[in-house]
Amino acid sequence: MTAVVTGVAGFIGSHLAARLLSDGLTVLGVDCFTGYYDPARKQANVEPLLAHPQFRLERRDLAVDELADLLGGASVVYHLAGQPGVRGSWGDGFETYARNNIIASQRLLEAMRGSGARLVFASSSSVYGDADRYPTPESTLPRPSSPYGVTKLCSEQLVMAYVRSAGIDARAVRYFTVYGPRQRPDMAFSRFIARASSGEPVDLYGDGEQTRDFTFVSDAVDATIRAGSVDRPRDRIFNVGGGSRVTVRSVLTLLGDILGEPIAIREQPPQPGDVRDTGADLTLASTQLGWRPLVRLEEGLRAQAAVARA
Ligand code: NAD
Ligand code: UGA
Repeated sequence: MTAVVTGVAGFIGSHLAARLLSDGLTVLGVDCFTGYYDPARKQANVEPLLAHPQFRLERRDLAVDELADLLGGASVVYHLAGQPGVRGSWGDGFETYARNNIIASQRLLEAMRGSGARLVFASSSSVYGDADRYPTPESTLPRPSSPYGVTKLCSEQLVMAYVRSAGIDARAVRYFTVYGPRQRPDMAFSRFIARASSGEPVDLYGDGEQTRDFTFVSDAVDATIRAGSVDRPRDRIFNVGGGSRVTVRSVLTLLGDILGEPIAIREQPPQPGDVRDTGADLTLASTQLGWRPLVRLEEGLRAQAAVARA
């Protein structure tokens, strides 16, 4: 069995590939090492994978390079490549979001026509915006609050159009703020740990009472694999959340306990596009994928801090 993982050099993609290899699959990893954050970090993410005899890396840009030859023999394509990050998607930044989320996904979908491979698409809680209901079920009308969320919703809708009209067997997982070792350096926990470790105050956006349904990366990976494994699920879009909503301020208190001293805070204005709350209704993932999150916030945050400070 061969699996293709796009975005394999990134945070979640590198964990997913490692898990697939340990499950005995052959993995073809695809990435173009974009400069959104230091490509040396991405190289370090793939280094352990490259040592595995069942792993191969293809450096390709999904938005422009030939893709037809990539998918021969693949049973599942996990499409995680993309331009993430809510706050950088305004202004001139948007072109990169449109390119790496929408155009890249459309080109991959075209290449998948007739391949027989199944697709799992990495969607996002950002498609919901400020939702009408918490916890939020997948049937909620998506109303993204950021240009990033719009591009993720557009890609997800493209995927579903290829399901309906091009016979591609696809599923989407809507990840809720994923954290853990190798988390992207622009994300909150990475920034908090890096700043606190060097004795600098952390930036807290807004009043800190915003909540997130933080999801540990091994739980996100497990849900992703289950989404690709299940035959004929009744639904095709699944929330993947950590199982409890906490405020950003309470994370800082917990992190201070873990690091052994209180975190100094520099209050900053709320950031445009950041939603107030996210919270996943996990009913569909639980009943159709047999999945539930296993890693609690304190355990996961300890693991991330230990690796970041090693
Ligand atoms: P990441 O930036 O660490 O990984 C994405 C990878 O995709 C990068 O290595 C990048 O080089 C690659 N890439 C980007 N454009 C490409 C292109 N055109 N061709 C080939 N490779 C390309 O991000 P991540 O946090 O691991 O997120 C992975 C996916 O999950 C993204 O699609 C993101 O939108 C989605 N997601 C992430 C989170 C989260 O909390 N991290 C939450 C919701 C959704
Ligand atoms: C994250 C990812 O970055 C997106 O790619 C993803 O699509 C999204 O999750 C999702 O769930 O769909 P975000 O929730 O903004 O987006 O994740 P963080 O960057 O970890 O921020 C979490 C919270 O901490 C936000 O409220 C943010 O405003 C706050 N924050 C972040 C700070 O207060 N200070 C910082 O330095 C960074």
